[in-house]
This record gives sequence, C-alpha cells and structure tokens, in this order.
Amino acid sequence: MNNNKTRKTALITGATKGIGYELTKLFAGDSYNLVLVARNKVRLEEMQEDLNKKHNINVTIIAKDLSVPNAALEIFRETIKKQIVVDVLVNNAGIGDFGLFNNKKLLKLSQIMQINIVSLTELTKFYLKGMVYRKEIFSKNLNMTENAASKEISNYLNSN
Ligand SMILES: NC(=O)c1ccc[n+]([C@@H]2O[C@H](COP(=O)([O-])OP(=O)(O)OC[C@H]3O[C@@H](n4cnc5c(N)ncnc54)[C@H](OP(=O)(O)O)[C@@H]3O)[C@@H](O)[C@H]2O)c1
Repeated sequence: MNNNKTRKTALITGATKGIGYELTKLFAGDSYNLVLVARNKVRLEEMQEDLNKKHNINVTIIAKDLSVPNAALEIFRETIKKQIVVDVLVNNAGIGDFGLFNNKKLLKLSQIMQINIVSLTELTKFYLKGMVYRKEIFSKNLNMTENAASKEISNYLNSN
C-alpha cells in the first residue's frame, strides 16, 4: 500500500509560503503525493526538488495566478491531463488588503474577489464531484481564505 500509485494526493494552493508551505511539509511527511500551486515557478521548482529528495512522493507543480479568470479551470485540466486524482483540496491561497474601500483601485478589488472567492469556488466545484463520487467528502476540503463564500462552502461540506 505504500507505493506512489496507491498514495492519496493533496492539491495545495499558495504552497510556497506561510501556512500553505507548512501544510505542504505536513502532507509530505504523511506521504501524500502533492500538487503545488502558486505564481512563483522558481520557488515551486526548488520545493519540488527538496521534497523529492526528502520524501518518496510524486510532486507536481503548477505555476498559476489565481487572480486571473479561468486559472482554476486550467489547473483542473492540467491535473486531468496528467491523470492525477485529487483526494484532498487545500484552498489556501488568498490575499487581504487594508485601508478605505473608497480609495481602493477597482483592479485590486477584482483580483481579491477572483482569488479569494471565484477561484476558490471553482476549484471546489471542479474537484468536489470526484470526491463525492469516491465518498471522500470533508474533512478533505480545506478552505483557508477569510471570506463568507469559503465559510459557506465549508459549512455545506461539514453538514454533508
Ligand atoms: N496569516 C494569517 O494570520 C491568516 C489569518 C487568517 C487567514 N489567513 C488566510 O490563510 C491563507 C494563507 O495565509 P498566509 O499568511 O500563509 O499567506 P502568505 O504567507 O502570504 O502566502 C500566500 C501564498 O499564496 C500564494 N499566492 C498569493 N497570491 C496568489 C495568486 N494570485 N495566485 C496563486 N497563488 C498566490 C503565494 O505564492 P506566490 O506569491 O508565489 O503566488 C503564497 O504561496 C490566506 O488565504 C489568508 O487569507 C491567514
């Protein structure tokens, strides 16, 4: 049961820093295969090399900006193409901002909504179907970002 093919796979967004990085190390320590998503490709490649050295797991990296429309779909398609079954989805990537709403640039607000709400919701929608089919619903879907949409989704998942 301990070879790479039978291992579970966790997809972690925002895997290169902070909470996402710490979760990545924990999942690797538990021998999960990993799909790591963030914008910084060089950092992702460094992590892939390091994790491959330390753990006998498959590490796939996807450099993607989740504030750009359709990023979630492109990630989903890439995992389908590589025949990766995602068992655990960690929607960790997210951004916040401070200051008066009135002074904020619309572009910045759109990017925040895209990453914290739209991409998070789309990734959940794309991967959840397979999880439900395989009866792997919650606690396999972890939404980290601080917004009402992610809490609604988590509440829904917890109640099912
Ligand atoms: N830290 C806290 O106290 C706290 C409290 C409550 C909630 N949270 C939530 O927890 C999550 C993680 O927080 P953190 O403090 O660990 O964050 P962090 O240290 O700033 O790390 C953010 C991660 O997300 C990636 N990321 C940022 N923008 C991205 C984008 N547009 N597309 C794809 N990836 C992107 C970053 O990598 P790249 O730069 O390479 O893209 C990085 O890996 C966030 O959703 C945050 O809102 C944090």
